[in-house]
Amino acid sequence: MNPPILEVRGLRKTFGSLVAVEEVSFSVAAGECVGLLGPNGAGKTTTLSMLAGLIRPDAGEVLIAGRALTGDTDPAKRRLGLVPQDLALYEDLSAAENLAFFGALYSLSRAELRDRGAAALDLVGLSGRAKDPPRTFSGGMKRRLNLAVALLHDPEILLLDEPTVGVDPQSRNAIFDNLETLRARGKTILYTTHYLEEVERLCSRVVIVDHGRVLADAPLAELRAREGEGQRCTVELAAPAPADWIAALRGLPGVRRVAARESQLIFEVADLTVAVPAVTAWLAQHGAQITQLSSARPNLESVFLSLTGRNLRDD
Ligand SMILES: Nc1ncnc2c1ncn2[C@@H]1O[C@H](COP(=O)(O)OP(=O)(O)O)[C@@H](O)[C@H]1O
Ligand SMILES: [Mg+2]
Repeated sequence: MNPPILEVRGLRKTFGSLVAVEEVSFSVAAGECVGLLGPNGAGKTTTLSMLAGLIRPDAGEVLIAGRALTGDTDPAKRRLGLVPQDLALYEDLSAAENLAFFGALYSLSRAELRDRGAAALDLVGLSGRAKDPPRTFSGGMKRRLNLAVALLHDPEILLLDEPTVGVDPQSRNAIFDNLETLRARGKTILYTTHYLEEVERLCSRVVIVDHGRVLADAPLAELRAREGEGQRCTVELAAPAPADWIAALRGLPGVRRVAARESQLIFEVADLTVAVPAVTAWLAQHGAQITQLSSARPNLESVFLSLTGRNLRDD
């Protein structure tokens, strides 16, 4: 593993009596793509804002390539590119003028601005719309322009704050393709989201936060393994199962846990080969009609649920 390019140590931030970030520490290796995952209000944006130097932590520090950021004008900040959760665009300037404005903040030369602006627009698939203002764009196109703005100064580290919220599926895919391209070019990515499937698609490691604390920091494969090597098996019946079936089903060979949800029975099983024949035979004996049967590996959603006691999308 490469040495960490980004390190967060003991970050803390309060707003009055509200503790937004209690204690957050993690690090990201150069070229790594890490998911920062947590439900709404977990403290993700506050953490990212401290990382990007937009707000000052009450305690803790941010290190870029092993060196603490010193103040707002630290040149190391240029190695970071933040795609903020709230769009930062001028609705009435054209896309190209927006890029020019933000490029000037990074004091890019005219030639750099032209080349990088064109490359960034091309990457996000907006070359054809350079002359149009964002007010004529869809939500997804605005998000993509927001990403292009963050790429202008060619940062090594990209901090993305929920870049797909409120975005149509087509733009969402486009954003993902962009990020996969950037990852392949060796960019370091910290991807903030409350969508698990996005982390599963893009990231190799996940830092799970809730209530301003890190609950887990591990490679995805390791988190999945924590849920055991078992399988989740869903049996759909023609009618809801009587309540007293659950205990009986739980006692069958290979079955670890059983839950009922309307006419579905959800099994956690150690071994499909053992459990499925036992379950289907038992159900047949008791006159149940199986209308559907499926199995899947446990996903991160169940890991998240057991860590935080709540679903990611409980807002
Ligand atoms: N500027 C602020 N002033 C007061 N409270 C804030 C401010 N920013 C965030 N918070 C609060 O801090 C907590 C964490 O917010 P945030 O970092 O935005 O979470 P997330 O991005 O994970 O949804 C929330 O309870 C939020 O209401
Ligand atoms: Mg947020």
